[in-house]
Amino acid sequence: MTFPAVRPRRMRRDAFSRRLMREHTLTADDLIYPVFVHEREGRAPVASMPGVERLSLDELLRVAEQAATLRIPALALFPVTDPGAKSLDAAEAWNPEGIAQRAVRALKARFPELGVITDVALDPYTTHGQDGIVDAEGYVANDVTVEALVKQALSHAEAGADIVAPSDMMDGRIGAIREALEGGSHVHTRILAYAAKYASAFYGPFRDAVGSAGNLGKGDKSTYQMDPANAEEALREVELDLAEGADMVMVKPGMPYLDIVRRVKEAFGVPTFAYQVSGEYAMLKAAAANGWLDERACVLEALTGFKRAGADGVLTYSALDAARWLREG
Ligand code: PBG
Repeated sequence: MTFPAVRPRRMRRDAFSRRLMREHTLTADDLIYPVFVHEREGRAPVASMPGVERLSLDELLRVAEQAATLRIPALALFPVTDPGAKSLDAAEAWNPEGIAQRAVRALKARFPELGVITDVALDPYTTHGQDGIVDAEGYVANDVTVEALVKQALSHAEAGADIVAPSDMMDGRIGAIREALEGGSHVHTRILAYAAKYASAFYGPFRDAVGSAGNLGKGDKSTYQMDPANAEEALREVELDLAEGADMVMVKPGMPYLDIVRRVKEAFGVPTFAYQVSGEYAMLKAAAANGWLDERACVLEALTGFKRAGADGVLTYSALDAARWLREG
């Protein structure tokens, strides 16, 4: 008689032994909730992201309360700027009365324990939708953009942001922002560097949400965001951002880039985050709406996959739902 000498299925037979050998556990502590804030009253839905809405400051506070109650550690703020406030030099980005700065102050006043992360990038503020200031040829100029990003990051820190998150991929911006924060006595402000950010087609719905899609038109971001075909370059980018003073690094998008998450975590062992971006959210929502996928099961499986890959946390538009589902057990 032949039989398998080893039977891995024995351990899978009952829930108790499955639980005992489970390697990774997803909790609300792993979630960061990205939110869109606009200058208008009330809420405005984002068509390509069912369940996601742009929020007024009042509505933002309501959502923040839900997040805090669900023990989500932090929100990531994304401003939606009115077309009239956009310009070539993106000066609205460091307006102390800008929507992002006001949102930070309102959140920190009301929910001091809830972490607030701000997006440091110029795309919501430029007339062309690029993440930087362009030269005569339309090329996004690095060093003048970094000067603008420093002003933006300082204005966020002054408003009370706990974490500034440069998502622009300019060279040297982490070092410049760190120096300015130290010089401005903002020694506690953390930097979450979008270190490995790819020129991805999965950002489409986000660009609808912040209203940069129309401005960007056929313009793409591949002179600063990374080529999806590259991995070694991601390690180099992470190394540079850490050397310049980043406290945490981000890999973006998420699911198609889990190999990068794993390699970054293994190579550097630093707090590593992944962004399950708008297009990933839209795919899951669309399939669920058609009855083709079970949203709850798929979202929790995907988020667990990020943890297994080595992420310490995930930015996800499903954060509130996921935290509720986890609570329900
Ligand atoms: C821009 C920015 C983007 C996202 C976050 N910050 C889009 C882009 O680079 O064009 C995308 C997030 C998402 O798709 O959910 N600085």
